[in-house]
Amino acid sequence: MKFECTINGARLDCVVTSDRDITGPVFCTSGMTRMTVVHGCKMVTQTGSYIEVQLPDLKAGAPYAFSLGYDGFEPANRAWMPLGPYLRTNDGEVIQLPALPSGFHPAPETPTKAFSGLKLIPQPTSWSPTGQRVLINGYTCENDAMRSVAALAQRQNHGAFLRPDGHRVIIETGDLPLDAYTLVISPDDITLTAASTGGWFYGAITLLMLLRTHDGDIPCGTLTDTPRFTWRGQHLDCARHFYKPETIHDLLDLMALLKLNRFHWHFADDEAFRLQVECLPQLWQQTEMRGEGHLIPAIFSGASDSGGSYSKDDARAVIAHAKALNIEVMPEIEVPAHALALAKVYPDTRDPDDIGSERSVQGYTANVVNPAMPKTWDILEALATEVGALFPFGLLHLGCDELPADTWMGSPLAKALIAKEGLETTQDLQGWTMSRLAQTVVKNGQRPAAWEEAANGKNGGIGHNAILFSWTGAGPGFAAARAGYDVVMTPAQHVYLDMAHTNDIDDWGGNWAGTVSLSDTIAWDVIPPDEPELAKHIIGVQGTFWSEFTTQDVQLWPMLVPRILGVASKGWQSHDITSADLHSLATDFACVWHA
Ligand code: ACM
Repeated sequence: MKFECTINGARLDCVVTSDRDITGPVFCTSGMTRMTVVHGCKMVTQTGSYIEVQLPDLKAGAPYAFSLGYDGFEPANRAWMPLGPYLRTNDGEVIQLPALPSGFHPAPETPTKAFSGLKLIPQPTSWSPTGQRVLINGYTCENDAMRSVAALAQRQNHGAFLRPDGHRVIIETGDLPLDAYTLVISPDDITLTAASTGGWFYGAITLLMLLRTHDGDIPCGTLTDTPRFTWRGQHLDCARHFYKPETIHDLLDLMALLKLNRFHWHFADDEAFRLQVECLPQLWQQTEMRGEGHLIPAIFSGASDSGGSYSKDDARAVIAHAKALNIEVMPEIEVPAHALALAKVYPDTRDPDDIGSERSVQGYTANVVNPAMPKTWDILEALATEVGALFPFGLLHLGCDELPADTWMGSPLAKALIAKEGLETTQDLQGWTMSRLAQTVVKNGQRPAAWEEAANGKNGGIGHNAILFSWTGAGPGFAAARAGYDVVMTPAQHVYLDMAHTNDIDDWGGNWAGTVSLSDTIAWDVIPPDEPELAKHIIGVQGTFWSEFTTQDVQLWPMLVPRILGVASKGWQSHDITSADLHSLATDFACVWHA
């Protein structure tokens, strides 16, 4: 079987060449978002970005050409080409078509000049070199944080960080801020001072990085280092694509090398719910696998069974691995929208008399649970309680992004609830819903979190001391901070690492928020310069990675690296880094982590 596709302006021109005669073939595929029929085929059905179209009978060896397009978008690069394409014959046989190449990423720009300072990213708060140097092949130290970095070094093939003949590291306790440390590097020994484990850990990370980036020939001097923000995060969408637990462990290692300390684990979305909760076993059992014959069709997956779920032991292992790296894990349950999987398994979460025709940005209908249905609350409260209890960090992200316009307005039960509660709009009911769910989280002794939209509604939104994540830009985060919410900044235009690096048609990635180059990751203000008082509510920075077009774990790394270096710089450094220095340090970082 042969399958080819070229992007021609607004069209995806496809050619399938069968190696045998096929009667009544249906072509099935996913795209970046909702697709349209342009020519040579007839719509059969579609769910979100998944589409099935009827082709005429195929003759062995005779190429057949047809065209698809996108609803209101032009395909920008290879990530927009058919994903997981297959044919279904009229007697139900499934024929997988060859996957299309996933595209290139631009080689990092060659820096115009080598960085002259300490080759460390993020850059330290201060560095005073003595001018001496010392040759080091490893370190000697009896300290748990140093041992944790030694284990990381072993896992990531950096050799022996701790060794009996290594340079001596003396651990001291000092009155420093959380996660801050100082290092005094001399030809005789090194003194690492911090208030507690976090600071010693980051001092040890710095020692590992210097060993690699300076190739064992380390400059002597005094380094002081204090993080700017308490929240330095990275998000991973494990719902659209199931990442093996080993890949998540690798991501945690990468984060630790960059002094990132919050992992936002997004395992629930329209296409799957992937945590093995006991309160709702059918939820993950019926949605962990997608493909032909499954409850959720082959959205982003291809015909063959694809997916998986995380056992509670998998989650505990992720939490323990993270803890050893000074990283806390925040799970997300993602409601009331982006909840097709939940609503399909539990249809009683929707009003049967709802006549609304609202559609999500991703093209889904009926992907929102209804707060006027008692079953919705049974499910949401059980989920919030069980998921929250598994994660000792004590922060539960509830979701609340991208509720389709006019949701619930066709539901008589939701309209009655709106009237009873003195509300008016969809946004008001969303705010009321989030606030009620947040109350459960607080009752459970935890703190709620949500995407920026949770601030909306005439009741003031979610409230309950929630942390909000500003994603459509920085503006909504500033507004939420003014309203008294603590905020994490994750503006798509700068730190959505699933966006393509460039505009090149051969590149790969989303582009709805524009392209995101390494330089873009640092070209923004986390705190508005003319409103420094917002600093008390802006608690940090987070990179985001959505996985719609990711079908293999390895595709993650060239999307994250090097751009995650910009995220880490924004989260850690109090002083700006120039784009030229960032590019230069990204080149040095290649010996620490190969994308
Ligand atoms: C989002 O990107 N929808 C949070």
